[in-house]
Amino acid sequence: MDNRVKIFDTTLRDGEQVPGCRLNTQEKLVIAESLESLGVDIIEAGFPVSSPGDFESVKEIAKLVKNPVVCGLSRAVQKDIEVAADALKYAKRPRIHTGLGTSDQHVFTKLKITREQVIERGVAAVKMAKKFVEDVEFYAEDAGRTDNEFLAQVVEAVIAAGATVVNIPDTTGYCIPEEYGQKIKYLVDNVKGIEKATISTHCHNDLGMATANSITGVQNGARQVECTINGIGERAGNTSLEEVVMALKKHKWLDFYTGINTKDIYPISQLVSHTMRMPIQPNKAIVGSNAFAHSSGIHQDGFIKNRDNYEIIDPEEVGVEKSSIVLTARSGRAALYFRIKVLGVDLSKEELDLVYPKFLEVADHSQIVEDQDLKNILSSTLAISVNL
Ligand code: KIV
Ligand code: ZN
Repeated sequence: MDNRVKIFDTTLRDGEQVPGCRLNTQEKLVIAESLESLGVDIIEAGFPVSSPGDFESVKEIAKLVKNPVVCGLSRAVQKDIEVAADALKYAKRPRIHTGLGTSDQHVFTKLKITREQVIERGVAAVKMAKKFVEDVEFYAEDAGRTDNEFLAQVVEAVIAAGATVVNIPDTTGYCIPEEYGQKIKYLVDNVKGIEKATISTHCHNDLGMATANSITGVQNGARQVECTINGIGERAGNTSLEEVVMALKKHKWLDFYTGINTKDIYPISQLVSHTMRMPIQPNKAIVGSNAFAHSSGIHQDGFIKNRDNYEIIDPEEVGVEKSSIVLTARSGRAALYFRIKVLGVDLSKEELDLVYPKFLEVADHSQIVEDQDLKNILSSTLAISVNL
Protein backbone atom coordinates (compact mmCIF):
# COMPACT_ATOMS: atom_id res chain seq x y z
CA MET A 1 0.00 0.00 0.00
CA ASP A 2 1.32 3.47 -0.93
CA ASN A 3 2.43 5.50 2.07
CA ARG A 4 1.35 8.86 0.65
CA VAL A 5 -1.42 10.29 2.86
CA LYS A 6 -3.81 12.60 1.05
CA ILE A 7 -4.86 15.75 2.88
CA PHE A 8 -8.55 16.62 2.49
CA ASP A 9 -9.13 20.12 3.81
CA THR A 10 -12.63 20.94 5.00
CA THR A 11 -11.95 24.39 6.50
CA LEU A 12 -14.37 25.92 4.00
CA ARG A 13 -17.15 23.42 4.77
CA ASP A 14 -16.98 21.80 8.22
CA GLY A 15 -14.78 24.63 9.55
CA GLU A 16 -17.10 27.28 8.27
CA GLN A 17 -20.05 25.72 10.13
CA VAL A 18 -18.74 27.39 13.32
CA PRO A 19 -21.09 30.19 14.43
CA GLY A 20 -19.56 33.55 13.53
CA CYS A 21 -17.11 32.10 11.00
CA ARG A 22 -19.23 32.36 7.88
CA LEU A 23 -17.28 33.60 4.88
CA ASN A 24 -18.33 35.35 1.69
CA THR A 25 -17.28 34.05 -1.71
CA GLN A 26 -14.35 36.45 -2.04
CA GLU A 27 -12.95 35.40 1.35
CA LYS A 28 -13.40 31.74 0.46
CA LEU A 29 -11.55 32.23 -2.83
CA VAL A 30 -8.56 33.76 -1.05
CA ILE A 31 -8.41 30.82 1.37
CA ALA A 32 -8.89 28.28 -1.43
CA GLU A 33 -5.94 29.78 -3.32
CA SER A 34 -3.78 29.51 -0.20
CA LEU A 35 -4.90 25.93 0.37
CA GLU A 36 -3.79 25.12 -3.16
CA SER A 37 -0.34 26.66 -2.51
CA LEU A 38 -0.16 24.79 0.79
CA GLY A 39 -0.43 21.59 -1.25
CA VAL A 40 -3.67 20.04 -0.03
CA ASP A 41 -4.98 17.22 -2.23
CA ILE A 42 -8.70 17.91 -1.84
CA ILE A 43 -10.57 21.11 -0.98
CA GLU A 44 -14.08 20.60 0.37
CA ALA A 45 -15.43 23.91 -0.84
CA GLY A 46 -18.89 23.83 0.72
CA PHE A 47 -22.36 22.33 0.88
CA PRO A 48 -23.93 23.72 -2.32
CA VAL A 49 -27.60 22.99 -1.55
CA SER A 50 -27.39 24.71 1.84
CA SER A 51 -27.63 28.29 0.51
CA PRO A 52 -27.28 30.25 -2.74
CA GLY A 53 -24.13 31.85 -1.29
CA ASP A 54 -22.52 28.48 -0.66
CA PHE A 55 -23.49 27.28 -4.15
CA GLU A 56 -21.81 30.36 -5.63
CA SER A 57 -18.66 29.85 -3.55
CA VAL A 58 -18.30 26.21 -4.59
CA LYS A 59 -18.83 27.18 -8.24
CA GLU A 60 -16.21 29.95 -8.13
CA ILE A 61 -13.68 27.79 -6.27
CA ALA A 62 -14.26 25.03 -8.84
CA LYS A 63 -13.37 27.52 -11.59
CA LEU A 64 -10.31 28.88 -9.77
CA VAL A 65 -8.53 25.82 -8.43
CA LYS A 66 -6.19 23.90 -10.76
CA ASN A 67 -4.51 21.04 -8.94
CA PRO A 68 -6.55 19.88 -5.94
CA VAL A 69 -9.77 17.94 -6.29
CA VAL A 70 -12.73 20.22 -5.49
CA CYS A 71 -15.39 18.53 -3.43
CA GLY A 72 -18.99 19.46 -2.61
CA LEU A 73 -21.02 17.96 0.25
CA SER A 74 -24.51 16.55 -0.14
CA ARG A 75 -26.90 14.47 1.90
CA ALA A 76 -28.00 11.17 0.33
CA VAL A 77 -30.81 13.07 -1.34
CA GLN A 78 -31.42 13.53 -5.08
CA LYS A 79 -31.79 17.34 -4.95
CA ASP A 80 -28.56 17.78 -2.93
CA ILE A 81 -26.60 15.61 -5.35
CA GLU A 82 -27.93 17.42 -8.43
CA VAL A 83 -27.15 20.82 -6.94
CA ALA A 84 -23.66 19.69 -5.89
CA ALA A 85 -23.00 18.39 -9.42
CA ASP A 86 -24.15 21.70 -10.88
CA ALA A 87 -21.89 23.72 -8.55
CA LEU A 88 -18.94 21.49 -9.48
CA LYS A 89 -19.47 21.49 -13.24
CA TYR A 90 -16.45 23.75 -13.94
CA ALA A 91 -14.06 21.83 -11.67
CA LYS A 92 -11.09 20.18 -13.32
CA ARG A 93 -11.28 17.38 -10.79
CA PRO A 94 -14.76 17.30 -9.19
CA ARG A 95 -15.83 15.06 -6.31
CA ILE A 96 -19.28 14.64 -4.77
CA HIS A 97 -19.26 13.76 -1.06
CA THR A 98 -22.51 12.09 -0.10
CA GLY A 99 -23.75 9.91 2.72
CA LEU A 100 -25.96 9.39 5.76
CA GLY A 101 -25.89 8.24 9.36
CA THR A 102 -25.06 4.62 10.13
CA SER A 103 -25.00 4.40 13.95
CA ASP A 104 -28.09 3.01 15.68
CA GLN A 105 -28.38 6.40 17.32
CA HIS A 106 -28.67 8.14 13.94
CA VAL A 107 -30.56 5.39 12.13
CA PHE A 108 -33.30 4.93 14.70
CA THR A 109 -33.65 8.34 16.36
CA LYS A 110 -32.66 10.78 13.60
CA LEU A 111 -33.36 9.12 10.24
CA LYS A 112 -36.03 6.81 11.72
CA ILE A 113 -35.49 4.11 9.09
CA THR A 114 -34.20 0.52 9.13
CA ARG A 115 -30.61 -0.59 8.62
CA GLU A 116 -31.62 -2.12 5.27
CA GLN A 117 -32.94 1.27 4.18
CA VAL A 118 -29.63 2.90 5.16
CA ILE A 119 -27.82 0.58 2.75
CA GLU A 120 -30.41 1.17 0.01
CA ARG A 121 -30.20 4.96 0.38
CA GLY A 122 -26.40 4.96 0.49
CA VAL A 123 -26.14 2.80 -2.64
CA ALA A 124 -28.73 4.89 -4.49
CA ALA A 125 -26.92 8.13 -3.57
CA VAL A 126 -23.56 6.83 -4.79
CA LYS A 127 -25.09 5.57 -8.05
CA MET A 128 -26.81 8.89 -8.62
CA ALA A 129 -23.62 10.88 -7.93
CA LYS A 130 -21.72 8.58 -10.32
CA LYS A 131 -23.98 9.79 -13.15
CA PHE A 132 -22.37 13.23 -12.76
CA VAL A 133 -18.78 12.57 -11.62
CA GLU A 134 -16.37 9.66 -11.52
CA ASP A 135 -15.00 10.52 -8.10
CA VAL A 136 -17.61 9.87 -5.37
CA GLU A 137 -16.87 9.86 -1.67
CA PHE A 138 -19.33 8.23 0.71
CA TYR A 139 -19.54 9.25 4.38
CA ALA A 140 -20.99 6.99 7.07
CA GLU A 141 -22.02 9.67 9.54
CA ASP A 142 -21.33 8.77 13.19
CA ALA A 143 -19.22 5.80 12.09
CA GLY A 144 -17.33 6.29 15.36
CA ARG A 145 -20.38 4.92 17.23
CA THR A 146 -21.46 2.48 14.51
CA ASP A 147 -21.28 -1.24 15.10
CA ASN A 148 -18.31 -2.45 13.01
CA GLU A 149 -20.15 -5.36 11.41
CA PHE A 150 -22.93 -3.13 10.07
CA LEU A 151 -20.43 -0.44 9.05
CA ALA A 152 -18.58 -3.07 7.00
CA GLN A 153 -21.82 -4.03 5.22
CA VAL A 154 -22.53 -0.40 4.34
CA VAL A 155 -18.98 0.24 3.15
CA GLU A 156 -18.96 -2.93 1.03
CA ALA A 157 -22.25 -1.99 -0.62
CA VAL A 158 -21.24 1.59 -1.48
CA ILE A 159 -17.89 0.48 -2.89
CA ALA A 160 -19.73 -2.04 -5.08
CA ALA A 161 -21.94 0.88 -6.20
CA GLY A 162 -18.84 2.86 -7.27
CA ALA A 163 -17.63 4.89 -4.27
CA THR A 164 -13.96 5.80 -4.78
CA VAL A 165 -13.43 7.01 -1.21
CA VAL A 166 -15.11 5.80 1.99
CA ASN A 167 -15.14 8.31 4.81
CA ILE A 168 -15.38 6.93 8.35
CA PRO A 169 -16.29 9.98 10.44
CA ASP A 170 -16.08 10.05 14.19
CA THR A 171 -18.78 12.70 14.00
CA THR A 172 -19.22 13.11 17.73
CA GLY A 173 -15.54 12.81 18.65
CA TYR A 174 -16.38 9.73 20.72
CA CYS A 175 -13.58 7.30 19.90
CA ILE A 176 -10.24 6.83 21.58
CA PRO A 177 -7.28 6.00 19.31
CA GLU A 178 -7.16 2.23 19.83
CA GLU A 179 -10.89 1.94 19.16
CA TYR A 180 -10.78 4.10 16.01
CA GLY A 181 -7.70 2.27 14.71
CA GLN A 182 -9.42 -1.09 15.23
CA LYS A 183 -12.46 0.18 13.33
CA ILE A 184 -10.33 1.01 10.29
CA LYS A 185 -8.50 -2.32 10.57
CA TYR A 186 -11.83 -4.16 10.79
CA LEU A 187 -12.87 -2.60 7.48
CA VAL A 188 -9.52 -3.41 5.85
CA ASP A 189 -9.83 -7.03 6.98
CA ASN A 190 -13.54 -7.61 6.38
CA VAL A 191 -14.81 -5.52 3.47
CA LYS A 192 -14.75 -7.25 0.09
CA GLY A 193 -13.39 -4.80 -2.52
CA ILE A 194 -11.88 -2.42 0.05
CA GLU A 195 -8.74 -2.17 -2.11
CA LYS A 196 -10.82 -0.38 -4.77
CA ALA A 197 -11.45 2.62 -2.49
CA THR A 198 -9.40 4.98 -0.33
CA ILE A 199 -10.33 4.94 3.35
CA SER A 200 -10.64 8.41 4.85
CA THR A 201 -10.57 9.59 8.47
CA HIS A 202 -12.76 12.48 9.62
CA CYS A 203 -12.35 12.95 13.35
CA HIS A 204 -13.95 15.53 15.60
CA ASN A 205 -12.22 16.69 18.74
CA ASP A 206 -14.82 16.41 21.51
CA LEU A 207 -12.47 14.38 23.71
CA GLY A 208 -9.29 16.01 22.38
CA MET A 209 -8.47 12.85 20.41
CA ALA A 210 -8.97 14.01 16.82
CA THR A 211 -5.32 14.13 15.81
CA ALA A 212 -4.43 10.90 17.62
CA ASN A 213 -7.42 9.11 16.09
CA SER A 214 -6.52 10.30 12.59
CA ILE A 215 -2.93 9.10 12.95
CA THR A 216 -4.08 5.74 14.29
CA GLY A 217 -6.49 5.54 11.35
CA VAL A 218 -3.58 6.03 8.97
CA GLN A 219 -1.50 3.41 10.76
CA ASN A 220 -4.33 0.96 10.23
CA GLY A 221 -4.91 1.59 6.54
CA ALA A 222 -6.54 5.00 5.94
CA ARG A 223 -4.78 7.05 3.26
CA GLN A 224 -6.82 10.24 3.40
CA VAL A 225 -7.17 12.53 6.42
CA GLU A 226 -9.95 15.11 6.63
CA CYS A 227 -8.96 18.15 8.64
CA THR A 228 -9.13 21.92 8.99
CA ILE A 229 -6.65 24.73 9.47
CA ASN A 230 -6.29 25.50 13.21
CA GLY A 231 -8.64 22.55 13.89
CA ILE A 232 -11.71 24.76 13.57
CA GLY A 233 -15.09 23.10 13.26
CA GLU A 234 -18.35 22.21 14.98
CA ARG A 235 -18.24 22.17 18.81
CA ALA A 236 -14.64 21.28 19.86
CA GLY A 237 -13.52 21.31 16.24
CA ASN A 238 -12.08 18.97 13.63
CA THR A 239 -8.67 17.38 13.30
CA SER A 240 -5.98 20.07 12.87
CA LEU A 241 -4.27 19.88 9.51
CA GLU A 242 -1.03 21.26 10.95
CA GLU A 243 -0.94 18.71 13.78
CA VAL A 244 -1.45 15.67 11.56
CA VAL A 245 1.02 16.84 8.93
CA MET A 246 3.75 17.64 11.44
CA ALA A 247 3.14 14.48 13.50
CA LEU A 248 3.63 12.37 10.36
CA LYS A 249 6.64 14.42 9.28
CA LYS A 250 8.37 14.26 12.68
CA HIS A 251 7.84 10.51 13.07
CA LYS A 252 9.88 9.37 10.09
CA TRP A 253 9.84 5.79 11.36
CA LEU A 254 6.10 5.66 10.63
CA ASP A 255 7.12 6.09 6.99
CA PHE A 256 4.14 8.19 5.85
CA TYR A 257 4.31 11.42 3.91
CA THR A 258 2.01 14.18 2.66
CA GLY A 259 2.30 16.75 -0.12
CA ILE A 260 2.05 19.73 2.25
CA ASN A 261 4.54 22.61 1.96
CA THR A 262 4.99 22.96 5.69
CA LYS A 263 6.55 26.44 5.48
CA ASP A 264 3.11 27.74 4.43
CA ILE A 265 1.41 26.43 7.60
CA TYR A 266 1.78 29.50 9.82
CA PRO A 267 0.80 32.06 7.14
CA ILE A 268 -2.40 30.18 6.25
CA SER A 269 -3.19 29.66 9.93
CA GLN A 270 -3.05 33.43 10.42
CA LEU A 271 -5.09 34.04 7.27
CA VAL A 272 -7.85 31.67 8.39
CA SER A 273 -7.88 33.04 11.92
CA HIS A 274 -8.21 36.66 10.73
CA THR A 275 -10.67 35.99 7.93
CA MET A 276 -12.93 33.85 10.13
CA ARG A 277 -12.53 36.17 13.12
CA MET A 278 -11.56 33.11 15.17
CA PRO A 279 -8.59 33.73 17.52
CA ILE A 280 -6.06 30.93 18.04
CA GLN A 281 -5.51 29.83 21.64
CA PRO A 282 -1.93 30.79 22.62
CA ASN A 283 -0.97 27.21 23.53
CA LYS A 284 -2.37 25.70 20.28
CA ALA A 285 0.12 23.14 18.93
CA ILE A 286 2.28 24.34 16.01
CA VAL A 287 0.50 27.68 15.36
CA GLY A 288 -0.30 29.19 18.79
CA SER A 289 1.62 32.32 19.85
CA ASN A 290 3.33 30.32 22.63
CA ALA A 291 4.16 27.27 20.49
CA PHE A 292 7.79 28.41 20.13
CA ALA A 293 8.10 30.65 23.22
CA HIS A 294 10.25 29.63 26.19
CA SER A 295 9.68 31.28 29.53
CA SER A 296 10.88 29.19 32.45
CA GLY A 297 14.51 29.37 33.55
CA ILE A 298 15.22 25.65 33.20
CA HIS A 299 13.81 25.48 29.67
CA GLN A 300 15.45 28.73 28.59
CA ASP A 301 18.88 27.60 29.78
CA GLY A 302 18.51 24.27 27.95
CA PHE A 303 17.14 25.93 24.81
CA ILE A 304 20.00 28.46 24.66
CA LYS A 305 22.55 25.64 24.96
CA ASN A 306 20.88 23.65 22.18
CA ARG A 307 17.51 24.36 20.58
CA ASP A 308 16.75 20.64 20.27
CA ASN A 309 16.65 20.33 24.06
CA TYR A 310 13.20 21.91 24.14
CA GLU A 311 11.93 22.06 20.55
CA ILE A 312 11.01 19.17 18.27
CA ILE A 313 10.19 21.46 15.33
CA ASP A 314 12.37 24.19 13.85
CA PRO A 315 9.92 27.14 13.72
CA GLU A 316 11.07 28.01 10.19
CA GLU A 317 9.86 24.58 9.08
CA VAL A 318 6.27 25.73 9.66
CA GLY A 319 6.78 29.34 8.58
CA VAL A 320 7.25 30.87 12.03
CA GLU A 321 10.09 33.41 11.90
CA LYS A 322 11.86 32.35 15.08
CA SER A 323 11.51 31.00 18.61
CA SER A 324 11.33 33.49 21.44
CA ILE A 325 12.76 33.72 24.91
CA VAL A 326 10.10 35.42 27.01
CA LEU A 327 11.34 37.09 30.18
CA THR A 328 9.16 36.54 33.25
CA ALA A 329 9.73 36.18 37.00
CA ARG A 330 10.45 32.48 36.28
CA SER A 331 13.32 33.29 33.91
CA GLY A 332 16.93 32.66 34.83
CA ARG A 333 20.24 34.44 34.36
CA ALA A 334 21.04 32.63 31.11
CA ALA A 335 17.88 33.98 29.49
CA LEU A 336 18.46 37.49 30.78
CA TYR A 337 22.07 37.48 29.49
CA PHE A 338 20.86 36.13 26.12
CA ARG A 339 18.13 38.76 25.68
CA ILE A 340 20.42 41.64 26.69
CA LYS A 341 23.03 40.35 24.23
CA VAL A 342 20.39 40.50 21.47
CA LEU A 343 20.08 44.22 22.37
CA GLY A 344 23.82 44.58 21.67
CA VAL A 345 25.22 44.51 25.23
CA ASP A 346 27.57 41.67 26.25
CA LEU A 347 27.42 41.69 30.06
CA SER A 348 30.29 40.41 32.20
CA LYS A 349 29.46 38.03 35.07
CA GLU A 350 29.80 40.90 37.58
CA GLU A 351 27.50 43.15 35.56
CA LEU A 352 24.91 40.36 35.27
CA ASP A 353 25.08 39.93 39.08
CA LEU A 354 24.06 43.58 39.45
CA VAL A 355 21.35 43.54 36.80
CA TYR A 356 19.65 40.24 37.71
CA PRO A 357 18.14 41.28 41.12
CA LYS A 358 16.78 44.47 39.56
CA PHE A 359 15.30 42.38 36.73
CA LEU A 360 13.53 40.10 39.26
CA GLU A 361 12.08 43.14 41.02
CA VAL A 362 10.59 44.39 37.75
CA ALA A 363 9.49 40.90 36.73
CA ASP A 364 7.60 40.36 39.99
CA HIS A 365 5.47 43.38 39.18
CA SER A 366 4.76 42.67 35.51
CA GLN A 367 3.66 39.66 33.47
CA ILE A 368 6.43 39.96 30.86
CA VAL A 369 9.65 42.00 30.92
CA GLU A 370 9.94 43.80 27.60
CA ASP A 371 12.93 45.33 25.80
CA GLN A 372 11.96 48.79 27.08
CA ASP A 373 12.14 47.47 30.68
CA LEU A 374 15.59 46.00 29.96
CA LYS A 375 16.71 49.34 28.57
CA ASN A 376 15.58 51.08 31.80
CA ILE A 377 17.26 48.47 34.00
CA LEU A 378 20.59 48.74 32.12
CA SER A 379 20.46 52.51 32.34
CA SER A 380 19.64 52.65 36.07
CA THR A 381 22.00 49.90 37.27
CA LEU A 382 25.00 50.22 34.90
CA ALA A 383 24.47 53.58 33.17
CA ILE A 384 24.48 51.72 29.84
CA SER A 385 22.24 53.18 27.14
CA VAL A 386 20.64 51.04 24.48
CA ASN A 387 18.93 52.11 21.26
CA LEU A 388 15.72 50.17 20.65
O1 KIV B 1 -18.67 14.93 10.97
C1 KIV B 1 -19.26 14.41 10.01
O2 KIV B 1 -19.78 13.29 10.07
C2 KIV B 1 -19.33 15.17 8.78
C3 KIV B 1 -19.88 14.50 7.57
C4 KIV B 1 -20.93 15.32 6.92
C5 KIV B 1 -18.77 14.12 6.64
O3 KIV B 1 -18.89 16.31 8.74
ZN1 ZN C 1 -17.56 16.69 10.45
